[in-house]
Amino acid sequence: MTELSPLDAAGVEAAVEAALAAFAQANDLDELKEARLAHTGDKAPLTLANRGIKDLSKEDKAAAGKAMGAARAAMGRALAARTAELEAERDARVLIEEAVDVTLPATRQATGARHPLETLQERMCDVFVSMGWEVAEGPEMEAEWFNFDALNFDPDHPAREMQDTFFVDPPSSGLLLRTHTSPVQVRAALERRDLLVEEGRGIYVVCPGKTFRTDELDATHTPVFHQIEGLAIDEGLTMAHLKGTLDHFAKAMFGPEAVTRLRPSFFPFTEPSAEMDLRCFVCGGDDAACRTCRGTGWIEWGGCGMTHPNVLVAAGIDPSKYTAFAFGMGVERTLMFRHGVADMRDMVEGDVRFSQQFGMEI
Ligand code: PHE
Repeated sequence: MTELSPLDAAGVEAAVEAALAAFAQANDLDELKEARLAHTGDKAPLTLANRGIKDLSKEDKAAAGKAMGAARAAMGRALAARTAELEAERDARVLIEEAVDVTLPATRQATGARHPLETLQERMCDVFVSMGWEVAEGPEMEAEWFNFDALNFDPDHPAREMQDTFFVDPPSSGLLLRTHTSPVQVRAALERRDLLVEEGRGIYVVCPGKTFRTDELDATHTPVFHQIEGLAIDEGLTMAHLKGTLDHFAKAMFGPEAVTRLRPSFFPFTEPSAEMDLRCFVCGGDDAACRTCRGTGWIEWGGCGMTHPNVLVAAGIDPSKYTAFAFGMGVERTLMFRHGVADMRDMVEGDVRFSQQFGMEI
């Protein structure tokens, strides 16, 4: 390429023309950048000609400088105008290309939900944790000794019969699926006995968990169900402490208007023993034909009582110094009363639509 002289007016004009044409032909900002580098970059003819001005005579310098200044200004204006045009085009295109149609149907990812029995168990435990109690757990496959013997069941107690209890093969294993959460009472007492006896720290535990009985699944029975066990061992505990604790528990679960009553009953591991009833939440005790409470005005929530001295002895605790109370509530029953679930099978079948109604509790 022959070098362009800064004094060659026609050549300068032609170079400017060529630059303006290239800018006008650029179809996007990338092409414009190429054109800009070619016509105004370090090696462009006009740039080189501009640099040559310094070598001219004084008179020529002024004329050449003026001509070059005008040429560079014309290119600068054209470049700025084309840049603005192409940017506006790009912005308009991006708006269209990247538009999101918020009215299109979305692909929904079904979220699961924790099972209400699970979240309710946690809620029940929280009532006690907030009073300083501990949460304890025990195995679902349990030693017969913990499930029955340590709880003062006679060797020939009917609950030990095959028709109520799932025993684990072989029969000599001494193992079964726990029929209630009460064996955790004995485990918790054994584990904490030293702190009680040596440091005077009372034992206050709740034990939630799965329990098993050989019932057929129907609207009110399930072979796998859940209980929450409570156990308090300390000096001077009485039935009044039990009643006060259960009243608080009932109000925390069912609201301040919940009314409870204790009804004499029998369990081998408590003496005296009681059933804990709730005022019928359907008729409030006012409807002799109520189907929920069968007109009695009360519905059973769980069993309770003062821990039998033999149970304390089995855990190595002196019953003449310490007294204890215990209770065991059905979690399924609590869910039924609290949320009006009429059929236990809904809790067992695992249909996520059932769980989702209880929301995404975590
Ligand atoms: N374990 C008893 C049951 O399953 C309930 C219970 C617990 C009773 C604690 C008294 C004390 O029926």
